[in-house]
Amino acid sequence: MRIKQWIGVLAALAISPMAASATDTLDGKALYEANCAMCHGVTGEVSDFGKSLKPFPARNHRAIAKLISRDEMRRIITYGVEGTAMTPKKYTLDALEIEAVIDYIKTFDYKPNLANGKKRFEAVCSTCHGIDGRAITGIGAKNLVYTKLDLTDIVHTMRYGRPGTLMTSKRHQLSNMDIADVASYVSSLRYMANPANGKALYASNCAACHTTPADIKLIGNAAETRSIADLSDRLLDLRIRHGRHVDRAGKKVEKLSSDSIQDIMAYMRASTN
Ligand code: HEC
Ligand code: HEC
Ligand code: HEC
Repeated sequence: MRIKQWIGVLAALAISPMAASATDTLDGKALYEANCAMCHGVTGEVSDFGKSLKPFPARNHRAIAKLISRDEMRRIITYGVEGTAMTPKKYTLDALEIEAVIDYIKTFDYKPNLANGKKRFEAVCSTCHGIDGRAITGIGAKNLVYTKLDLTDIVHTMRYGRPGTLMTSKRHQLSNMDIADVASYVSSLRYMANPANGKALYASNCAACHTTPADIKLIGNAAETRSIADLSDRLLDLRIRHGRHVDRAGKKVEKLSSDSIQDIMAYMRASTN
């Protein structure tokens, strides 16, 4: 059955690429094996030939299949990556065939190795983000423990960097397995804010002046146009522990830990929404 389909696809391709456009008859696995496996490997883990390619080797699909978006895959497969052996595939595969190949790649599974992620994070990221990911290095690196990014966005940031900042692309410095492992490790560092604890902290540190979070008024020009809901966690934290608020609320607020502020903010947001 499978072989028959495969031959069917090949025959259709040989006659006319367009003839193979009925999606439900397309076999993504067969298309992958015929067009991609020689470099990316039958299992998605890069063939010996793929590893030997210059200047850049082929990349492991298995590790990042679930971590890069369909749109990004479609763009790379369609247009290729300039200056590498990843040539545009739009001349050999039609749009539906490309979707079928992506469907197949997306079935690849990978179990991240957190121990390796930690090791690589400490070697490659900690100079800027800190060994604990909290980035108190003062060069503009973000605190990754409080990041709002999901796994896919973390991977995207690692692959492409943030143009114009010290966060450069790590794509050629790290293999896809390292990228998947580090991203999972970064995700595992995430601080889970606890609104119940925030409520208790609010009662003992804030309620004397602001009975409830809804009673809080912003200071200065911001008061007229914005509310707490408009402020990111980072800005709200700054407004609570720095600047003019400390003059009004007293030094005690300045001494609250970052994690306590995360908890308090989670409570404030839950009770003002
Ligand atoms: C002749 C070898 C070769 C073939 C055949 C090939 N690729 Fe690639 N591919 C590469 C190389 C080399 C790269 C790495 C490019 C780079 O360094 O950015 C790559 C990168 C990619 C990427 C980006 C992966 C990443 O982690 O950045 C995707 C997606 C991809 N290929 C899909 C495919 C698909 C799907 C096919 C088959 C339709 C295919 N490739 C066929 C060599 C190949
Ligand atoms: C040379 C310093 C430097 C190194 C090394 C570095 N980063 Fe960054 N990173 C930054 C800076 C600066 C930013 C903030 C960019 C911006 O302003 O958007 C950042 C932002 C990020 C973000 C976005 C966080 C968010 O919430 O927006 C992630 C994720 C990230 N880095 C992950 C990593 C990982 C993982 C590594 C290691 C593989 C790494 N970085 C290595 C400097 C660095
Ligand atoms: C001793 C009194 C006092 C305490 C305690 C206090 N605040 Fe305030 N806070 C003020 C005053 C006064 C303002 C100015 C606006 C107003 O009059 O409501 C203010 C303003 C704010 C603002 C707006 C800051 C700005 O820059 O726009 C926030 C947010 C806030 N408080 C949060 C808190 C939180 C959270 C706590 C507990 C950790 C707290 N406050 C504890 C007195 C206090």
